[in-house]
Amino acid sequence: MKSLDIIKRLYKDYTKRYLNKIIISAFFSLIVAASTASIAYLLDPAIEKIFIEKDQRLMLIIPFAIVIAFAVKGSSLYFAKMTLQKAGMQMQKELQLQIMNSILLTDIEAMNKKHSGKYLSNLTFDVSMVQRLLSDTILLLTKDTLTLIGLLSVMFYQNWRLALFAIIMIPLASVASKSLGKRMGKISTQIQEINGLLTSFVLEIFKNHKIIKIFQKEDFENKRSEKYLEIFKSKAVKVQSVLIRATPIMEILTGIMIGGLIYYAGNLVLKNELEINNFFSFLAAMMLSYQPVRSLATLNMGIQQGISAAKRILPIIDSENLDLNKGKEFNLKNGSIEFKNVNFKYETVERNTLNNLSLNILGGKMTALVGHSGAGKSTIMNLIPRFYDLDDGKISIDEQSIYDVSAQSLRKHISLVSQDTTLFDDTIKNNIIYSKLNASDDEINEVIKLSHCEEFIKKLPNGLDTIIGENGIRLSGGEKQRLSIARAMLKKSQIILLDEATSSLDAETEEKIQNAINYLTKDRTTLVIAHRLSTIINSNKIYVIDEGKVVAEGSHDSLIASSETYKNFYLKQIRKD
Ligand SMILES: Nc1ncnc2c1ncn2[C@@H]1O[C@H](COP(=O)(O)OP(=O)(O)O)[C@@H](O)[C@H]1O
Ligand SMILES: [Mg+2]
Repeated sequence: MKSLDIIKRLYKDYTKRYLNKIIISAFFSLIVAASTASIAYLLDPAIEKIFIEKDQRLMLIIPFAIVIAFAVKGSSLYFAKMTLQKAGMQMQKELQLQIMNSILLTDIEAMNKKHSGKYLSNLTFDVSMVQRLLSDTILLLTKDTLTLIGLLSVMFYQNWRLALFAIIMIPLASVASKSLGKRMGKISTQIQEINGLLTSFVLEIFKNHKIIKIFQKEDFENKRSEKYLEIFKSKAVKVQSVLIRATPIMEILTGIMIGGLIYYAGNLVLKNELEINNFFSFLAAMMLSYQPVRSLATLNMGIQQGISAAKRILPIIDSENLDLNKGKEFNLKNGSIEFKNVNFKYETVERNTLNNLSLNILGGKMTALVGHSGAGKSTIMNLIPRFYDLDDGKISIDEQSIYDVSAQSLRKHISLVSQDTTLFDDTIKNNIIYSKLNASDDEINEVIKLSHCEEFIKKLPNGLDTIIGENGIRLSGGEKQRLSIARAMLKKSQIILLDEATSSLDAETEEKIQNAINYLTKDRTTLVIAHRLSTIINSNKIYVIDEGKVVAEGSHDSLIASSETYKNFYLKQIRKD
């Protein structure tokens, strides 16, 4: 996207709504400009009447008028700034909300490619850059342009020849600004990239702190932090040096201007073409114009920074995500699932993960997938709720292609306990009812009992209201798994996917839960991935998966007799405890 397109887009989608705020702010800016100009102007009668003519009456009035002018300027500035700050913050919130919404809908494949830290950096750093376009840049643009116009008017009024002389300096400043602005946009992009890396890095440190400790990698990580922070610092120094570089340039320009001016004005005074009172008023106007000229000169930098941030944010907002409501309403019967000649490849992997795979998962029955790790079992499971899109082949549930029905109506009937248990940093109760927010106490108590959560919940100080920490850090692996089973049970969906859901449990607990699962999954379609014989044996059908293909299928007894792979697997892998 070109910079101009981005500006247009930002205006159309975000800034336009605040047009009334911008106008209000511009109105106050106009007052700021007028009062600034009047301060410079007032020096003319002040010097003439008070110092030259020694007028008693005006000796009180003019100083008073100057105080009033400053007061008006100050309070108008307050309103001009405040109005745009509020609008800017509101826009920031809207942008963040849109990004959040986009992240929530992003498909898993896209998520897999970008570290969460980068999203975080988009959400904070980039958004604030764009917000400043509205809050700061527009304010500077209106206030400083108007003030400059006001002051120039005073200058022209006092002496047009001097004014023409001063005005030559302004284009010089704007040339400097343009090249500085371009460089700023580039550095700002680099800063954002390193900022994203840094956030990702910090998140990794938090996640892996135990691993860091046991492998004694504190020094190693410290050095890596130092490396990232050093890059970050040097980029930040660059930004500041570009910013600060504007100052000496402006100071020198100002010096040349004032020096030249005094020389020129002196000549005019000698020729009696300029009065001293006009000169002082002119000089004041010119000194006061120093600030707006300087900030207009650096304006382009802020704009470039905002544009380069918008370049990173807008693609996230625009990313095409799965439309959850697109497609027909899924019509559930008994939930039989068919995979037909399915080929599937992860975007980041060269080879196919699933090869011409066909499965027939009986509705209302339990089917097990067994196979070595990496065989593709979890991948098969993840295709059912449309976490990933197929490359080739067909998956249908109750004779309806899962790609023809809406994801929303499909997912309503599926519940999942995934291999890596994921919980929220919230109370036990809120984690359980996540699948059904309006669950009654009876329903909650039932699943707590069946999933054998009751045993450990009873021991917790606040029972169901105990906060479990980030991803359930205050619970054991088995407790977390039981909690996620309870959560899945509560949904009471027709299709239940259990991906090594009981792998962290001891044999006894697992068997008890297995009974509960059997009870709960009666007449429901259940697909389990498990390594314990007790689970597998209970299934109506077993598929042996290897390298993304079905290598054998049948019941436990028939597979033992017919499949060498299963027999080997049974002997080596399946836990019989
Ligand atoms: N998100 C992913 N991106 C890329 N490759 C993946 C992803 N998830 C799994 N894989 C790869 O796909 C293969 C099958 O993985 P998976 O279905 O998890 O196996 P299983 O559950 O049978 O152990 C593995 O080789 C794994 O490396
Ligand atoms: Mg797996």
